[in-house]
Amino acid sequence: MELDLEKRRGRSQQLVAGLRRAIESGRLLPGSRLPSTRGVAADLGLARGTVTSAYHRLIAEGYLESAQGSGTRVVVAPHGEARGRQPSSLHARSPWQWNLRPGLPDVTMFPRNAWVRSTQRVLRLAPAEALDYGDPRGRPELRQALADYLGRTRGVITQPERIIICHGFTQALGLIAAVLAEQGMDTVSVEDPCYPLFRNVIETAGLSVHPVGVDAQGLRPEALRGRAAVVTPIHQYPLGATLAPGRRKDLVAWAEEADAVIVEDDYDGEFQFGRQRVGALQALAPHRVIYAGTTSKTLAPGLRLAWLAVPAEWVERIATAKRVADQHSAALTQMVLADLLRSGGYDRHVRRCRERYRVRREQLSTALEREVPGAWLAGEEAGLHALVRWSPDGPGEREVTQAARRESLAVATLGGYWGTPGPHPPGLVVGYATPPQHGYAGALGALVRVLGRCFAA
Ligand SMILES: Cc1ncc(COP(=O)(O)O)c(C=O)c1O
Repeated sequence: MELDLEKRRGRSQQLVAGLRRAIESGRLLPGSRLPSTRGVAADLGLARGTVTSAYHRLIAEGYLESAQGSGTRVVVAPHGEARGRQPSSLHARSPWQWNLRPGLPDVTMFPRNAWVRSTQRVLRLAPAEALDYGDPRGRPELRQALADYLGRTRGVITQPERIIICHGFTQALGLIAAVLAEQGMDTVSVEDPCYPLFRNVIETAGLSVHPVGVDAQGLRPEALRGRAAVVTPIHQYPLGATLAPGRRKDLVAWAEEADAVIVEDDYDGEFQFGRQRVGALQALAPHRVIYAGTTSKTLAPGLRLAWLAVPAEWVERIATAKRVADQHSAALTQMVLADLLRSGGYDRHVRRCRERYRVRREQLSTALEREVPGAWLAGEEAGLHALVRWSPDGPGEREVTQAARRESLAVATLGGYWGTPGPHPPGLVVGYATPPQHGYAGALGALVRVLGRCFAA
């Protein structure tokens, strides 16, 4: 293989950069099969391990893919477009060239090497009992590591005994809803708009959802009903407001008055880009708030790993629901996460992601300001998504979706998030974290073209 390697950097880095250049310039086309690591090593006079680690890096970045028996292939077209890939499994690949749907981190940043090191340590050192059935709350190492981490980074007041590990916040919410129903509650207050799946989860437990309006200061406490509420105080999903200090107090006062429980969904609390970070609401009322965090935004949703920090009286009830659901979450994965937290690898990864998403958000904001004067970014500078708003006199959401389809750009309009009939103001929920780094500029360009065209029409 002919590669234009620079002399200055380490050999693996040179190889990675050389292959990236070859793919981005179109010399290696999507679908091309790369030579074996052994062949490349011999051709370029490199150690085979150097080539293997370069391939792994490019697989992690989304440039290459590897399938058992068919070698390593290019999946990215020139200039970073992911296209023309043949499905290699039962899951059909996305038909979109660009994806700015919200809900995902840039999964190509997953800290694979750190995860491998932690997995090796865990497998070497895990006691035999770790492979037996265990505590429904989860592994003690992880509950300890999380109690430290949450206190240090989010101001959560808890103890390892009060932490319960679940398969994502989705499962956690289902368990909480089941416990609420068991206790005879019938209504849960939920922000409107919100992530629609969570309304389904609550209703599946036999409870009804009471929609609570949201404005630029977050949810409106005077609209709360029942004796339970699910809230996103740090970064309202999907509008993006941070709950104002006065409203935090009002929300807690409501819970005291109504003898209610608050479920705090702190799904992207790690990603606050301003200098002043806001801590968890839970610290104001640890006896009233069930705090929830997840790895779905920091590491990858495919891990299905989340945690609850619950008031003492709720531990037994939720742990029992968890045991009935599936005994407990997978022990080894929990131990790997515990090791990653203890080793500092998790913090390092979150810092890297925070910096990358901050830059991407700025690029989105600058591009909109420059190219689409009729639209603006709403909400706080935080999280993995931003809300693009425009006046109701501007284009309709359908028009924007259709224009996006013509550009092969996957987007989510605000319309899908409401639980109440409209009319509601138009908007796009833009997941700027979703694309791999090499695809972000292209996705942003497509978005600007789509909006520019709709506003010019
Ligand atoms: C508002 C909100 N909270 C939490 C989550 C995370 O859910 P899970 O941990 O089940 O992946 C999501 C996922 O999209 C979300 O949108």
